[in-house]
Amino acid sequence: MSDGKMAILNGKGVTKVFGLGDKKTVAVDHVDFSFKKGEIISIVGESGSGKTTLFKMILGLINMTEGEMFFQEKPRDIKGYAKKREYWKNIQAIFQDPFSSFNMFTKIDSVLLDCINLSGGKNLSKKEKDEKMTEACSFVNLKYAELTNKYPFELSGGQMQRLMIARIFLLKPRILMADEPTSMIDACSRATILDMLLKLRDETDMTVVFITHDIGLAYYISDTVYIMEHGKFVEHGSAEEVIINPQAAYTKRLISDVPKIHEEWDLSTVS
Ligand SMILES: Nc1ncnc2c1ncn2[C@@H]1O[C@H](COP(=O)(O)OP(=O)(O)OP(=O)(O)O)[C@@H](O)[C@H]1O
Ligand SMILES: [Mg+2]
Repeated sequence: MSDGKMAILNGKGVTKVFGLGDKKTVAVDHVDFSFKKGEIISIVGESGSGKTTLFKMILGLINMTEGEMFFQEKPRDIKGYAKKREYWKNIQAIFQDPFSSFNMFTKIDSVLLDCINLSGGKNLSKKEKDEKMTEACSFVNLKYAELTNKYPFELSGGQMQRLMIARIFLLKPRILMADEPTSMIDACSRATILDMLLKLRDETDMTVVFITHDIGLAYYISDTVYIMEHGKFVEHGSAEEVIINPQAAYTKRLISDVPKIHEEWDLSTVS
């Protein structure tokens, strides 16, 4: 669906090695990728396959041991804090645990106000800022009036996750990285959150990269799927190609694990 669109982020030979000598772990091992504008990508792999490590390198939170990245088809230069801050206007993240992403002693209003300031709205009037915050909250079905003067710890897990999406709505990054973004919430809110992210993609042509164990989720939401095993991409392609017609043994195994989960609950097979 995103064919012919500009590449927003490319990686070549991206590698991360932790430790030295006997204690060496190659967490990410020479991976290549190309994410396009407006594309929804899932990176799927088992625990320890290197997903979060890759995520952190893409975000510029940890350095690559080897390899290159290209942002908007130019070599990515994020040396030094000023350049990193500039890069972070374009790329934002949602983490597994929403409570870890906020400073607990910053009121919700300031969290949202910071986003407006960061995205160039510093000189707007108070009324205009209030309008923007109200709009962002209603996008995620939160009532701004009920949140003013509250601290993050006064919200529920689901409300926190929505607040994270309200931030993304205000920041409108070009790339959103989401590491198991719906892990904390029930299936119903989870579907709502995913739908909000998809709506945001449709409105802003943002690229969304999901990191997940859940191949079913990957099939449901993504255009493109990358399968990661022991730090390497063993296969990638459109969600249909990879999941309906998997080539790598590892992908076949990940897929065959899914029906097993349902079989355990299928009482009709009990004799
Ligand atoms: N800071 C670190 N120092 C040393 N080793 C690390 C560090 N971070 C990760 N690793 C190792 O790198 C490998 C990949 O870890 P990573 O967290 O990227 O996996 P993951 O795919 O995100 O797993 P999960 O699905 O459980 O979150 C693991 O073997 C892990 O122990
Ligand atoms: Mg992880």
